[in-house]
Amino acid sequence: MSLYHRHLQTLVERFNHACEEFELDTIAIYAGEQTYYPFDDLAFDFRAFPMLQQWLPYPAAPDTWVVFSVKKGLILYWPDRQDFWHVSAQAPSGHWTGDWQIKPTGDNKWLSELTGTLAVLAPYEHQLNVPAMAQVNPSELMHWLNYDRAVKTEWEIEQIRLANNHAALGHRAAAHAFSQGMSEFEIHLAYLRASEQQQSQEPYSAIVALNERAATLHYEQKQIQAPQAHRTLLLDGGAQVNGYASDITRTTTPSGTLFADLVNQMDELQQELVRACTVGNDYVNVHDLTLQRTAELLHRNKICSLSPEEQLARSIPQVFFPHGIGHLLGLQVHDIGGFQQDRSGTKAPRPDHAPFLRLLRTLEDGMTLTIEPGLYFIPMLLEKMEAEIPDHGCDMALIDTLKPYGGIRIEDNVVVRTEGPINLTRTSFSELPG
Ligand code: GLY
Ligand code: MN
Ligand code: MN
Repeated sequence: MSLYHRHLQTLVERFNHACEEFELDTIAIYAGEQTYYPFDDLAFDFRAFPMLQQWLPYPAAPDTWVVFSVKKGLILYWPDRQDFWHVSAQAPSGHWTGDWQIKPTGDNKWLSELTGTLAVLAPYEHQLNVPAMAQVNPSELMHWLNYDRAVKTEWEIEQIRLANNHAALGHRAAAHAFSQGMSEFEIHLAYLRASEQQQSQEPYSAIVALNERAATLHYEQKQIQAPQAHRTLLLDGGAQVNGYASDITRTTTPSGTLFADLVNQMDELQQELVRACTVGNDYVNVHDLTLQRTAELLHRNKICSLSPEEQLARSIPQVFFPHGIGHLLGLQVHDIGGFQQDRSGTKAPRPDHAPFLRLLRTLEDGMTLTIEPGLYFIPMLLEKMEAEIPDHGCDMALIDTLKPYGGIRIEDNVVVRTEGPINLTRTSFSELPG
């Protein structure tokens, strides 16, 4: 039995369970439509609604529908259009189609002919032309399904693994382009070429930050001119396979400096955090361990003279590591379901000491997530620390020598497993072809 077939079986079980709970006969799911720039016929890049994409082993086209019927099984409506301006969607083909009834459609008249209790899931609610009795995006149903999406099937993990393989090729080429003194723009081109994707296919616009710009967490500008010196490359870039993302960061710097030493220490720290992603551990504990280890690193390297305990009491580690340790990963880069504590949608409150942490769940077998510690020299946060924490204990002269390097982030994609975490990213790098 193929991984995809078993994946479908899991989705069918989840949807049957939901239909039983909410007394539904049918759930119809819409990919979304192509959207256009105002007053023009030029379209924005399309990305299918994740609730739909999870059913299909290819990137779904606009106006695709999946209908899950408790009694009639799975129906895929694909958009059959004659259009001499654009390439039209092709009839789905391949061994996987055996599990489906596949119907071409030019409209959604069939939707108004559905009988029984119906929920429609869609990326937006307007202009859908759904039958009056349908519930559109009922929040209880969405919570129910989103909770389960946090645990990935083997097929989903395989897509994320392949997305890691693509991105690892790109990261290797980018590090080489950095060593050749190229600009952010040129490094990005090298990344795209080696990872075999167009910019519009990236799961998110890659962050290609040289030197000080590595201190901007989501720096996306990609300057065309190369700088005078190449101190740091922070590249946060992924790839997509059938809608599933990888999300990988590497920080590269010439050896022989304190900053290079810090990158090596962060690499060790990151791998210790990956090892902490065990079934039954609370992800907040992994974040807390990051703060503890960051404080120890700051102390060990004489960046902060306060003991780790004193630093934690004053929130010093958060000055250098202001974001969360990671997030669920899947069809969305920041995948859904990270805050939910149960299927009914109860959300855990965000911890005060980790306001940006997006995963507040106990780790389960099959959850796929990122581990992305960072150490940044962000002028805005350092100034705030100096203004608000007089006894911060930081060596500002030493920090001034590190600011030109911007910062460090190391990010891997990890599958939580009963037998221990699997690091998809390190495996991809270790298996890179010649
Ligand atoms: N690339 C976005 C993130 O790491 O969360
Ligand atoms: Mn990232
Ligand atoms: Mn990430």
